[in-house]
Amino acid sequence: EWTDFERETIKSIFGKLDYDDVGLAALCRCLVVYPWTQRYFGNFGKLYNADAINANPMVAAHGKVVLNGLDKAVKNLDNIKGTYTELSVLHSEKLRVDPDNFRLLADCLTIVVAARMGADFTAEVQAAFQKFLAVVVSSLCRQYH
Ligand code: HEM
Repeated sequence: EWTDFERETIKSIFGKLDYDDVGLAALCRCLVVYPWTQRYFGNFGKLYNADAINANPMVAAHGKVVLNGLDKAVKNLDNIKGTYTELSVLHSEKLRVDPDNFRLLADCLTIVVAARMGADFTAEVQAAFQKFLAVVVSSLCRQYH
């Protein structure tokens, strides 16, 4: 289901990304722009405003956890659904995250990656990246019922 271009593009993007930087920026943006997503991170302390969220070490650590989670999908492009079975169960049954939020975080990630890549984020690269994230999101939604 992936073209050679898509495979190479997805691997190359993740090969160049700084997971600390991009993880923090994407999660931060999601928590700021869609403030209802903060409700799942009650144990992260007070997330008063964008500056507090940006400076919160638990947000930074969790941003990296999310990027490492995506890294697993990149390394298993032909079996993302299988790779994410447990993660989908966790978000659904234990964390009870509303699955609509997956797409919101994915969109924040796209914006951050676009900003970091600048002119290299061509229309073709964007299409491959968003296709990857769409598969990730649908795989994370899979254990919801
Ligand atoms: C935990 C990945 C989206 C809320 C995790 C973990 C990973 C992960 C790898 C750690 C699992 C473990 O400890 O075994 C992802 C990916 C996402 C995503 C790849 C989509 C791109 C979301 C969204 C929310 C969310 C949208 C809520 C709005 C949480 C929470 C935890 C968690 C609350 C537990 C945090 C803690 O207390 O340490 N996620 N996640 N996730 N995720 Fe997600």
